[in-house]
Amino acid sequence: MSKIGIFYYSKSGSNSFLAKKLGENLGCDTIEVKPRLKSLFSIMMASLTGLSFGNKAIDIDIASFDKVIVCGPIWAGKIVSPITDLIKKYNKSLKKVYLATSCAGGDDTKDDKFGYNSGINQVKNLVSDKFIFGAAFPTTMVLSEDEKKDSNIVMKTVFNESNFNKELTERLNQFVDKVKNS
Ligand SMILES: Cc1cc2nc3c(=O)[nH]c(=O)nc-3n(C[C@H](O)[C@H](O)[C@H](O)COP(=O)(O)O)c2cc1C
Repeated sequence: MSKIGIFYYSKSGSNSFLAKKLGENLGCDTIEVKPRLKSLFSIMMASLTGLSFGNKAIDIDIASFDKVIVCGPIWAGKIVSPITDLIKKYNKSLKKVYLATSCAGGDDTKDDKFGYNSGINQVKNLVSDKFIFGAAFPTTMVLSEDEKKDSNIVMKTVFNESNFNKELTERLNQFVDKVKNS
């Protein structure tokens, strides 16, 4: 059986929730990625420029995993720097790479400048043929059409056990099956 590891970064909690749900379903390790500088400003600048102070050391051998799932948010159309820094540092040791992202933008805006396909393509470009697939779990999927129009509500929405609905659970189950079968 292949060894799977989930490496996640989360600022407000949705990607942490998602990573742990995936971990429960796949029965695998869930490891938090901790940036050396953790302010929103420094991570935003690092995500936009690629210049970063990197992450704190990780106490686990990434090379021991057959499949690595990276999980983190999209900020300004980019996968956040703790995740890209992790990939850049360990790229040679990675075998199969998957991306799960909880972002705000939904399926209808996935190809926009700030849409999730931009983040999926970013990870794909970093690891090239080691990339297997990526999927987004937009927080706006828990909101009504009216709520989606209110940017305050959108930015404050964080996954929890009671709002992670049937549609998201189905998406998560599909992700889990695809990881197991690839
Ligand atoms: C500074 C900042 C920029 C963001 N930019 C985007 C974006 O470009 N596209 C998007 O879909 N969501 C964007 N979001 C929303 C986050 O991706 C979303 O809230 C995500 O679920 C947060 O994950 P977390 O709770 O694990 O930190 C942004 C959030 C912040 C704080």
